[in-house]
Amino acid sequence: METMRAVRAHERGGPEKLRYETAPRPGPGPGEVLLAVAAASITAGELAWPASWTDSFDGSGRDRTPVIPSHEVSGTVAALGEGVTERAVGDEVYALIPFTRDGAAADYVTLPADVAATRPAGIGHTASAAVPLAGLTALQALDGHARLRAGGHVLVHGAAGGVGSFAVQIAVAMGATVTATASGSSADFVAALGADRVLDHRTTRFEDEVSAVDVVLDCVGGETQTRSWQVLRPGGVLVSVVAPPDEQEARRHGARGVFFVVEPDRHGLDRLTALIDDGRLTPRVDRIVPLSGTRAAYEALEREHRKGKIVISVTEEDAHTG
Ligand SMILES: NC(=O)c1ccc[n+]([C@@H]2O[C@H](COP(=O)([O-])OP(=O)(O)OC[C@H]3O[C@@H](n4cnc5c(N)ncnc54)[C@H](OP(=O)(O)O)[C@@H]3O)[C@@H](O)[C@H]2O)c1
Repeated sequence: METMRAVRAHERGGPEKLRYETAPRPGPGPGEVLLAVAAASITAGELAWPASWTDSFDGSGRDRTPVIPSHEVSGTVAALGEGVTERAVGDEVYALIPFTRDGAAADYVTLPADVAATRPAGIGHTASAAVPLAGLTALQALDGHARLRAGGHVLVHGAAGGVGSFAVQIAVAMGATVTATASGSSADFVAALGADRVLDHRTTRFEDEVSAVDVVLDCVGGETQTRSWQVLRPGGVLVSVVAPPDEQEARRHGARGVFFVVEPDRHGLDRLTALIDDGRLTPRVDRIVPLSGTRAAYEALEREHRKGKIVISVTEEDAHTG
């Protein structure tokens, strides 16, 4: 049996369950590619999602332990499964890996060939690994669910985070006006992403500062979400990536509320690649850690402020903060 380095959890739990160990190297099934992972990226809350542990989104499916986390990847195609014609060995790709299968905190990962997109040529693997989950979430939220238009006004909550840092840049590229909320220590970072206005959520109540916005993108949840109805114009939309908005509140405000889970989307990645190639979107990487540091990186996600994404460099064991 061929083996590889991997980070795995043998039972459900948080980062404390993650072990850096030797695991069987997977082989690609029909319609799949095997990627040699160069870099992968991690997301807050990921280990609590039912799909991270079973083969269904509501957690009712087959237990998949031991599981490998980290579902956004940048790497090189190392082998093709039966029937794969659109990819070749040696292709450099990036992808959001479906959540109900193993992720990329390992030397190798298999994934359906049709979710892999050619990665942006002008950036390194650690930058492109930061894109798929957070970038697709922001794109699907703003373009797909909110139907944001040029000239519209969007309020992005949690703008310094993984999703928020993409959302601000994508909204600007779409021609929208962007108001953002973030910690005060991240205000300059968020302004540099292109936000027209940044509100410190610790010192300012956003509802005192903005009104009649077309779209709220909620990357925070809780009372930040419930306080957001009042800043929407009638007919506006509150899109949350954290928790389903209250339908009664939506009706009461004449607004729309949407919660969704990001979906793998090669064509969406191609759109993000075009924005990156044009210089209109820059993946923001807070720090780069080695594969052996994955557990500590998940722990850091739970307790530290960040600006952008935490990326695991799988091919460079001496990776450092970047
Ligand atoms: N549904 C989906 O498909 C989907 C996809 C991706 C992510 N998510 C979820 O979406 C959430 C955000 O993900 P992420 O990767 O962007 O997380 P993240 O990187 O941790 O970003 C969250 C940001 O929110 C900020 N924040 C915290 N409290 C705030 C407040 N009251 N007002 C404004 N900003 C506040 C944090 O800043 P400070 O730390 O400086 O306070 C942080 O920058 C997570 O819960 C994640 O699980 C869902």
